[in-house]
Amino acid sequence: MMRIVHATDVHWYSRPHLGEIRGKRILGTANLFLRGRRHEFTDAAQRALIDHIVSLAPDLFVLTGDLTAQALPRELDKARRALEPVLSAFPSLVLPGNHDVYTWEGMLRRDFEARFGPWLHRDDAGLARLDRGEVTVLGLDAARPSVASAGRVPDAQLERLARVLEDEALRARFVVLAMHYPLLDEEDQPNINPIDGLLDAERVIATLADARVRPQLILHGHIHRGRQTTLRLPDGVGIPSINCGASGRAFDPVLGRTASMAVYEVEADGLRGIQRYRFDGRRFQPVPG
Ligand SMILES: [Fe+2]
Ligand SMILES: [Fe+2]
Repeated sequence: MMRIVHATDVHWYSRPHLGEIRGKRILGTANLFLRGRRHEFTDAAQRALIDHIVSLAPDLFVLTGDLTAQALPRELDKARRALEPVLSAFPSLVLPGNHDVYTWEGMLRRDFEARFGPWLHRDDAGLARLDRGEVTVLGLDAARPSVASAGRVPDAQLERLARVLEDEALRARFVVLAMHYPLLDEEDQPNINPIDGLLDAERVIATLADARVRPQLILHGHIHRGRQTTLRLPDGVGIPSINCGASGRAFDPVLGRTASMAVYEVEADGLRGIQRYRFDGRRFQPVPG
């Protein structure tokens, strides 16, 4: 039995310097301040999250992106420092989200890679892969700077995913597909919304449909409210697709919102259990049921 810990959308935040508020960050900063979104995520939840993950001592830790608010170098440093107790102690796979590659200059400077390189586990096609025990985690990175928040999986990654899933040896393993964007929208249709969806969700789904070995679990984030659904492939095979919910969110009983994360107990041949946790303002507590 292995325990996979999943967190997402922690959104560590730093106030931008005036000189950094250019291009897309003009809108982003306006959103954070005018709409009060910077209070949506808090140090208290972020600190409790790290303590909680360390106390769980996971066999594997998967972080499905949006570590920062605006991919400021200071925010990336803050995220990196905060995550140190987890990254240094447990096998970890980190994916960027759309908020972590906010600008072309940041992407060209490889700001994210410079801090999280050892935990990206990318091959030459950009597909992430981490093998531990009987578990293989594959990770797609569709985040790219653009005016909208929509993602696109580069062809090379998708072709590599198709090739990796041809490997019969994976049948003896529990295969997880991790990504920032959900493949399905709220109506369980391909999430191709041009504003903040995954533009080629249909191609990713087709790749999974054609694969010799299918992942047994899909993990994602991006939508801050947690959600579990099933990706139904044309031959009837269903793959559970889980968003554990934003993990750095402030405890807000009035709005009924808080931070959440999840633990998956898996064996080579299947998912055995899911334990969800929610932040109660002091610590993460198991959600009954
Ligand atoms: Fe997010
Ligand atoms: Fe996102």
